[in-house]
Amino acid sequence: MDLVTENWTPLLMAWYDKHKRELPWRTGSPRDPYRVWVSEIMLQQTRVEAVKTYYTDWMEHFPDIPALAAAEEDEVVRQWQGLGYYSRARNLHTAAREVMEQYGGRVPETREEITRLKGIGDYTAGAILSMAYGKRETAVDGNVLRVFARIYSIEENILSSAVKKDITELVKTRQDPQRPGDFNEALMDLGATVCIPGKPRCDACPLTEVCMAKKAGKEKDIPLRVTNKEVPVEPVTVFVVRTADSGSNKPVPQKLATPAGARRWPTEGWVAPDSVRYLIHRRPEKGLLAGMWEFPSCPGEGKDGKATLKKILAGFGIKIKRVSRPIQEIRHVFSHKAWQMTVYEAVAEDECALPAGWRWIAVEEFKDYNLAGPHNKILSLIQR
Ligand code: ADE
Repeated sequence: MDLVTENWTPLLMAWYDKHKRELPWRTGSPRDPYRVWVSEIMLQQTRVEAVKTYYTDWMEHFPDIPALAAAEEDEVVRQWQGLGYYSRARNLHTAAREVMEQYGGRVPETREEITRLKGIGDYTAGAILSMAYGKRETAVDGNVLRVFARIYSIEENILSSAVKKDITELVKTRQDPQRPGDFNEALMDLGATVCIPGKPRCDACPLTEVCMAKKAGKEKDIPLRVTNKEVPVEPVTVFVVRTADSGSNKPVPQKLATPAGARRWPTEGWVAPDSVRYLIHRRPEKGLLAGMWEFPSCPGEGKDGKATLKKILAGFGIKIKRVSRPIQEIRHVFSHKAWQMTVYEAVAEDECALPAGWRWIAVEEFKDYNLAGPHNKILSLIQR
């Protein structure tokens, strides 16, 4: 069987028709380009779950391009508050004005024109053109790279631009000419729910029979992601601060799988009883991971890191009763630096009153908060 010419697209599309995620931006036929556009910008660096309510609120507030173009920047940024990476909102706003001025309010239909709009790169252009206008355009993001690297057992570094280019060509050979937008979203859904990083769920995959990585037993080793730049590594101390528990209301230790991105890993996390709440706070509105939520953290490691973080928390009126041994080491690589995060569990003396930007939340409330990427990796420790 020649897998490059093997036509597995119908398998993928049949799977998508059955398992596609119901998402608020997946409405209308044909889809409204503005709705696709807003969702794709929000989904950059942000999880689907966190985007949903922002997206619905945004659409109520700015239902179309003229409404967005007419808004003041303050209002636009306010509506984005908590999603982080505010340049995305500012660019969207600017681009809405460009569409009004240069294209009479209609999102252009060619890759050349659409990528001239502020904040629209190759990926977003492909998503809008395929999903709203039915154009045969690819939208290759990290999910699609991973899925293709596995299907074709591509062992090269998927972060290299040459490999990305090759994979994009490969994607073109597999498109569904009748449903290019659905094809792109099917790949995204497969990558997000089945062909996930780390340990893929091959038993649930419609392409398991054609997957060359699976055949070679390499599905966990592919894709290879190597950043070609050496970046400085900064140590960071993180406390997962929770409220105290008592009696039978104790968190229960639990065996855990290693999440993607974690390096050294203890074998146990904990399952929290319903009454336990966790401390999170919002990062400053400017700078790295602006406006996103995170567990309390500070630069530094070891005893010094712990002492500093305790002191910082005390400054906010949060007293720490107990700190565990390190429970997790995570490295998160940004474009310009990396964080080596040592995570501890800390128990607070009480569920004290908190200043603005700080919250005590229950496990099931995490989905309503847009957690900064590096801290997202910690979540699997405390979620059932
Ligand atoms: N991630 C990026 N774009 C997406 C989409 N259209 N649907 C689901 N997840 C996505």
